[in-house]
Amino acid sequence: MEETRRNPVVVSVINLKGGVGKTTVAALLARYAVRKNLNVLAVDLDPQANLSQALMTENDYKQFMENREPSVVELFNGYLPPSSERSAPAPLENVLKRVGSRWEQKENFHLIPSRFDFANNLIESVRVDEPVLARYIAHEMKNKDLILIDCAPTESVLTRTAYHASRYVLVPVRTEFFSTIGFPLLQESLEDFRSENPTHAIDVCGVLINNSETQWSPRGPHHRDSREEIREKAGEYGWPVMSNEMTHSRGYPKMAKEEYASHTGNAWGESQKIANEFLEMIGLSPREG
Ligand SMILES: Nc1ncnc2c1ncn2[C@@H]1O[C@H](COP(=O)(O)OP(=O)(O)OP(=O)(O)O)[C@@H](O)[C@H]1O
Ligand SMILES: [Mg+2]
Repeated sequence: MEETRRNPVVVSVINLKGGVGKTTVAALLARYAVRKNLNVLAVDLDPQANLSQALMTENDYKQFMENREPSVVELFNGYLPPSSERSAPAPLENVLKRVGSRWEQKENFHLIPSRFDFANNLIESVRVDEPVLARYIAHEMKNKDLILIDCAPTESVLTRTAYHASRYVLVPVRTEFFSTIGFPLLQESLEDFRSENPTHAIDVCGVLINNSETQWSPRGPHHRDSREEIREKAGEYGWPVMSNEMTHSRGYPKMAKEEYASHTGNAWGESQKIANEFLEMIGLSPREG
């Protein structure tokens, strides 16, 4: 019997503070979900293009840049510009890039990559069609299970583009000084979005504590203080704090970049717990292989 088709769950990874692990988490969760036979689309909405670099092999990324393959920029523009092979603008056919290692290269792992010139193209342009990604997902991505959007740390028209497409927001946060500095900004920006789009349900599904202290590697009193601050602020806004946390480990950047299955050690086990908790939070369950 054919399985009932469900709609994709769209989650943006956002914190209006830089370097907290947004891209690392987005890449990890995407790889894990693919491993669990879910059909995954990752969207890189950050002009830094870190997620694109994490999910593509070096060769693929080089090729993508050299050949000026379609990216989120073309998705926004809605066409392919003239080039040495094209004497006129052409319709945008496929902006999806198949990603992942050879092991992962099934039909169920795609990326809409970002490009470095993104910033000039878009942010400076007069008018950006904010719901363009939401529309693309609604029309073209019905067969996906999970869509993860990696966002830049600064609020811009791109953040709103992400909101328009998203049901949930996942907030990684680092235990450090001023760890929650981005929380009120995010809360305010979500409130603004909600009041302008009253029929759109968007919620913080979880706050993921990154780089937290462990019993094996105490990281000083300010880490403890900041954990309390995180819980307090998150509680104030009604954002659930995930019970699994990321510790500081070299395994994380590796797993974000490379094939998920090839890793062992603490970070590997920990990341699986985080990913399972995440999937449960957003109401997705792994598929049978
Ligand atoms: N738990 C961790 N253990 C070790 N290194 C980590 C961990 N989390 C993140 N990192 C490293 O910290 C750096 C910042 O992480 P990442 O790029 O994911 O943050 P970000 O929030 O996406 O940053 P930006 O705001 O610039 O987009 C990266 O070099 C990443 O590999
Ligand atoms: Mg990032």
